[in-house]
Amino acid sequence: MRKKIVAGNWKMNTDYAEGISLFSEIVNIVRDEKKGDQIAVICAPFIHLNSLSKLGGDTVKIGAQNCHQNESGAFTGEISAKMIKSVGCEYVIIGHSERRQYFAESDALLAEKTKIALAHGLIPLFCIGETLDERNNGNFFEILKGQLENGVFGLDEADFAKVVIAYEPVWAIGTGLTATAEQAQEVHAFIRSELVYRYGEEVAEDTSILYGGSCNPKNAAELFAQKDIDGGLIGGASLKSRDFADIVKTFNA
Ligand code: 13P
Repeated sequence: MRKKIVAGNWKMNTDYAEGISLFSEIVNIVRDEKKGDQIAVICAPFIHLNSLSKLGGDTVKIGAQNCHQNESGAFTGEISAKMIKSVGCEYVIIGHSERRQYFAESDALLAEKTKIALAHGLIPLFCIGETLDERNNGNFFEILKGQLENGVFGLDEADFAKVVIAYEPVWAIGTGLTATAEQAQEVHAFIRSELVYRYGEEVAEDTSILYGGSCNPKNAAELFAQKDIDGGLIGGASLKSRDFADIVKTFNA
């Protein structure tokens, strides 16, 4: 059974006190109002994770936004998958377009990060997405296929079955431009067809594919109603407790 997941990505926002306060608000609203089996996750800055994991319980799970590809060692300033797991995190975002763009993270590097995250029992939220130019050029299916093939298709079936895919068109991130429900569904169906081709029908059917990019309480219902959209990866709206909780609740609307 595919899991329905709404994951917030706080990016580089909130200091420690603000993060604790926002997260506590989110947990309270989601605990009171959530019905159904959808999973809520907040991917917070590293320094928040240890505290948040003690506050969220089963109501709101915790994720990191990145991890290093090596097990440990002389990588000043980096955080390993093992460290993330050790503070109670269950998820880690890998391959967000901001990491690809500003930190030059390649598909090959992201494949390594995905492997080490899985080795430490973290669930990778593996992001793919095309830029505006790539969409306008009409070659975006090829771009997305390449990101899947070089990023996660090297995994064996048992490992891939633990991965969550997030489709985030770069042109829709933080811009207020959302992919229409039809545009998003078209890509999600394409991704699922690639999963069928690589891993077979059963694994493809069971893989959650989230949509991200200017998702908010107003457009979430239509997006999540699409056959191949299994939830969302939420940026700006996850920094407002009411909005994030409303998006979580959308699955029951
Ligand atoms: P916005 O929801 O702010 O567009 O960000 C999406 C995103 O990048 C989530 O990872």
